Amino acid sequence: MPITATKNIWKNGSLLPWEEAQIHVMSHVIHYGSSVFEGIRCYTQPGGAGVFRLTEHMQRLLDSARIYRMPLGYTVEQLCSAVVDVVEANGVAPCYVRPIAFRGYGEIGVNPLKSPVDGYIANFPWGTYVPGNDGADVCISSWNRLAPNTMPSLAKAGANYMNSQLIRMEAEINGYDEGIALDVNGYLSEGSGENLFLVRGGTIYTTPLANSVLSGITRDSVITLAKQLGIPVVEQSLPREMIYIADEAFFTGTAAEVTHLRSVDRVLVADGKMGPITTALYEEFFGIVNGLKPDRYNWLTPVKVKTAEPVAV
Ligand SMILES: Cc1ncc(COP(=O)(O)O)c(C=O)c1O
Repeated sequence: MPITATKNIWKNGSLLPWEEAQIHVMSHVIHYGSSVFEGIRCYTQPGGAGVFRLTEHMQRLLDSARIYRMPLGYTVEQLCSAVVDVVEANGVAPCYVRPIAFRGYGEIGVNPLKSPVDGYIANFPWGTYVPGNDGADVCISSWNRLAPNTMPSLAKAGANYMNSQLIRMEAEINGYDEGIALDVNGYLSEGSGENLFLVRGGTIYTTPLANSVLSGITRDSVITLAKQLGIPVVEQSLPREMIYIADEAFFTGTAAEVTHLRSVDRVLVADGKMGPITTALYEEFFGIVNGLKPDRYNWLTPVKVKTAEPVAV
């Protein structure tokens, strides 16, 4: 997706013009992948706009940084205010928000501890959902997800996305929309940038954090919604073949939102159409983010931005 520039980017506590948010080629992150980041959506609702689950995203950023011994120097509240400031200053909604922290220009060598930590927050337009979800045709990747105790999956680190890039490129080159990776033991893990859910016999199954998945915030949102709808949710390791016999399958993620899977390895998931449980969750999710249903979990942080009206689903 091409990037549309906005006016300002937040850097270490102040706003600077978009074009000035540049780093030196000798920055540690360029050589050793030492970054942690977030991806957040700001949705529009009738008469306003709101950032989705802002606190949880910024807490995950702090968690990722902690795993990599990267002191950010801001509290979760300060980081949330910074996101509100930059979104309001740029006046763009709906949008995507990209906070990132990394080891900057300091020393050469793998050890990051003597290189400074720089934090940036950018945002740019990203449209509202357009109805007409026919589902995704996906494959099981020949690449495995990160093995335990190698690259920590719970850290949303830039370097993890080298693995995601392999999964995604292979899928697209072979004519699929996305790839699902197995973990190192052959159990289902997740997509290159999405968590995975299956439905069978009225129960929702999703892969647990120990199967090398990111602790997705949309995943958590969908589990919350399912429980409220009275649908049982089980987090357990899932064998690969479970996906071929599922009644329904779907991805969740900030980018994917709730996307049903039409086929896996060219095998239709049931009849390939979005099933009733996915549909119920999809309607709840989009109902809340688009402001058509009450925000009963306080998932939206309001931002004062002139907005386009949301698209109803
Ligand atoms: C590898 C991976 N898994 C899952 C997700 C979904 O997480 P979230 O719902 O927090 O966007 C993402 C997206 O951030 C991801 O990159």
